[in-house]
Amino acid sequence: MFYLWRRSQVPVKQPIKISRIDNLIIFLTCILISIISSYKLLLISPLNSEDIFSWLLTFTEILISSGVLIFVSKKENPTISSRQIFLIITLLLAVQVMKLALASTISPLSMIIPPALIISQGMGSITALAWVSIASFSWPDPANAINNNLFFILLVCSSVVSLLGGRIRSRAQLLQLSFFVPIGSFLSQWILIGKDKISLTNKQDFVLANGDIFSDSLLLAIVMLFTILSIPIFESIFGLLTKARLLELADKEKPLIRRLSLEAPGTFEHTLLICGLAEEATRMIGGDIDLIKTGALYHDVGKLHAPNWFIENQDGSKNPHDELDDPIKSAEVLQAHVDEGLKFARKNRLPKLIANFIPEHQGTLKMGYFFQKAKEKNLDINEYYFRYKGPIPQSKETAILMLADGCEAALRAMNINASDKEALETISNIIYSRQKDGQLDDSNLSKGEIFLIKRAFLNVWKRIRHRRIQYPTTKNNTFS
Ligand SMILES: [Fe+2]
Ligand SMILES: [Fe+2]
Repeated sequence: MFYLWRRSQVPVKQPIKISRIDNLIIFLTCILISIISSYKLLLISPLNSEDIFSWLLTFTEILISSGVLIFVSKKENPTISSRQIFLIITLLLAVQVMKLALASTISPLSMIIPPALIISQGMGSITALAWVSIASFSWPDPANAINNNLFFILLVCSSVVSLLGGRIRSRAQLLQLSFFVPIGSFLSQWILIGKDKISLTNKQDFVLANGDIFSDSLLLAIVMLFTILSIPIFESIFGLLTKARLLELADKEKPLIRRLSLEAPGTFEHTLLICGLAEEATRMIGGDIDLIKTGALYHDVGKLHAPNWFIENQDGSKNPHDELDDPIKSAEVLQAHVDEGLKFARKNRLPKLIANFIPEHQGTLKMGYFFQKAKEKNLDINEYYFRYKGPIPQSKETAILMLADGCEAALRAMNINASDKEALETISNIIYSRQKDGQLDDSNLSKGEIFLIKRAFLNVWKRIRHRRIQYPTTKNNTFS
């Protein structure tokens, strides 16, 4: 019992599928990083066995550290692609090379903080922190290049950037960061190193050799600014999905969303309600709210290919499915809203994580109404033709969207006088049918989380009901 309870509470992460060639390239890059970071230990003459052993130790340490970095990034982002892992490793390689080539002229702050910003924005704070610790510790030549005070400042500044970078929601906040971090580094360097000359040792030469700490901080500000400007390029090359990009995509003035509101107003209304349901449920389970809000907005854009074939846009007029009178063709039209949606996503360069919402919100659900019609017509047809092509939801967010999609119409149609118990029962029945059908098998949703999702949907239903209750009006109607 205890085992089953624990299994239901701890979701099993899906392994990431990375091709052998990609794995090989990543492994070779890690070896290159280890060689670059440790080869100086072999340049001593005469070389004895102790030196070789210490080199081997450093080499292995860096190789293992790179492996840990990849492991952490996969843990934080189960859907991370090989391109993104390659970005993390290449940035590490670039920093190690820069340290060797420019250690005597450029402050380590300017080398480590900007990549940390890119990683925290694209892959999250924990990956960025892991990257910072490895990039800082495997310093090829620690004695000449860095001193304790500077090392401390570097760790504090890069940790702040890593932690804030993962949460920043707009480009304006990024600009603020590129302004305040250099100021913070300047002040702390001035207090800890520049001012207290008594504590200066030979190791502090690095900072003094650069002239002054002001030029260091200025360089940091310039490099950070340049990094912020180049983040959109990283977004498109490496498929990074930053918070700022998500919020940009969630703008309802985006041409595709604008088209949806004009050409398929019913679908647009349905989308907005689903956004509300999905957002509340994701907040309850601690998922990615910005991701689901944007994903929900685009989940049914495929209906633009034939808006009036979907009931929410029919407005009481004729149903084309009745005229068609062919359940198999009707099922094809329904499947087309997924296929066309994916085409729209490609045309509009939607990130993969957003495009995933399009097929996964339908999973392999059965188009029950048309299947029933086919059966009524005594058509000898396989159920397979009346199921969406999938895949079933592969993340908690896409699974929540599927559940919200299923509950939306039922909640909207529910009687205004229905009790909370009745609403919860309807929600539970819909969710249970999806669960029983195996649609949530790959989503990693635990039983506890499904319970929370039901409560969240109920809360939204209560809000909808409240909105629909008409306020009593008096003779002197004042709508204040
Ligand atoms: Fe749909
Ligand atoms: Fe939908």
